[in-house]
Amino acid sequence: MNTTTKINHKSTQGRKMNTPKKLNSKSTQGAKMSTTNKANRHFTAEDMNLFSWAGSKRKYKNSFETAHAELKVKKVKYYIEVFAGSLASLFHNIEHVDAETIVINDINKKLINLYRHIQKSPKELFEKFKILEDEYMRIIPEHLLNKKLVPKEDREEFQANNDFYLEVRAVLNSIDLDINHAALLLFLLNRNFNGLYSENKKGKINSSFNWSAKALNMTKIETAINNLHLFFNANQIVFETMDAAKLIEKYECEDTFIYLDPPYIDTEVQYTQQNEKSFNLLQTHLDMLESCNKYRYVLYSNNHHEAFIPLFDGYTNFFRSNNISANDKKNKKELLAYKVNQAKAIEFMPVVQLLDISLQKDITPVNNPIQSKAVSKLLDLDMPENGAA
Ligand SMILES: C[S@@+](CC[C@H](N)C(=O)[O-])C[C@H]1O[C@@H](n2cnc3c(N)ncnc32)[C@H](O)[C@@H]1O
Repeated sequence: MNTTTKINHKSTQGRKMNTPKKLNSKSTQGAKMSTTNKANRHFTAEDMNLFSWAGSKRKYKNSFETAHAELKVKKVKYYIEVFAGSLASLFHNIEHVDAETIVINDINKKLINLYRHIQKSPKELFEKFKILEDEYMRIIPEHLLNKKLVPKEDREEFQANNDFYLEVRAVLNSIDLDINHAALLLFLLNRNFNGLYSENKKGKINSSFNWSAKALNMTKIETAINNLHLFFNANQIVFETMDAAKLIEKYECEDTFIYLDPPYIDTEVQYTQQNEKSFNLLQTHLDMLESCNKYRYVLYSNNHHEAFIPLFDGYTNFFRSNNISANDKKNKKELLAYKVNQAKAIEFMPVVQLLDISLQKDITPVNNPIQSKAVSKLLDLDMPENGAA
């Protein structure tokens, strides 16, 4: 892998933490036990690999290692994965972040429903998934069995498999988010074209079929489900299905590590109809990053775009080996940028206000946001209209 690292040496030390923190304790129900990341060290993204997902960071663990070597994250209250996708990046990060609560968010409710069922009933889920996969394998004509890609001339004989896939998709698009939905989605994600999940404007899944007669590695999938189940229950996990901007608004705690892997700027892949086009725009990314300045640690992924560089302390690049869409060939260089935001200074009441002192001349400013404002206001009041002393 071709990796480069650039670091801006902005100082991030020397200021005290703001003690009162607004924790969002409402949303931590369903949690099983408090975290030490020892439990997480057993798992890598590979151990949890359930399906391919456009934009997954599974292959780029080394770049995450590079970023974390710079970040040196201390224990935090919250780890927030805003754009969870296949969870590959979550597992690259969580090895280095000891968090009390792990927030897993994706606007895709269907995906989060799958994770919720892995947390609750992994065995039942796998059994249902296996029923679907067994039926799919049963109807493959013998001479086509295990062909990675059924050739065009043989596709008539493979039509039943295409129809089975389309029926799975149709049922998925018409039932509620329950365990059957989770099992059908897992099947679809393993049998769709190139891991390219997509939805139409009405929010219905329209991913196409991959024409493969190759058996899935069911042992690997079962193991990944079990590993995820263990992880989801050994940690305090909160699942969310919010739009990124709303999620960032909701979690106020400064003592947070946030990772953002939004849809790529300047690409066609937008995953769901809800956010159509918005992440194409640079401004959407800049606004989102601005709203993350309240968090201590910010790690951000996207196409390499020069406008992002000054916003971070440092970054590393990697090159996507396979493009997520045939139309995205020009966007191959990816950015993984990081920063540590300074802790806010503790605010105290201005001394001049406490004792009602009227200052006649300037004093050396003290590093207190309230005081500096109040002092200048006081001084202004005492100053003649023309500003002369
Ligand atoms: C690049 S993928 C994330 C890949 C993930 N890091 C991984 O390693 O698999 C972007 C994800 O963002 C989700 N998404 C798109 N728009 C969103 C939004 N407005 N708010 C939250 N999630 C969104 C998509 O459903 C998709 O799963």
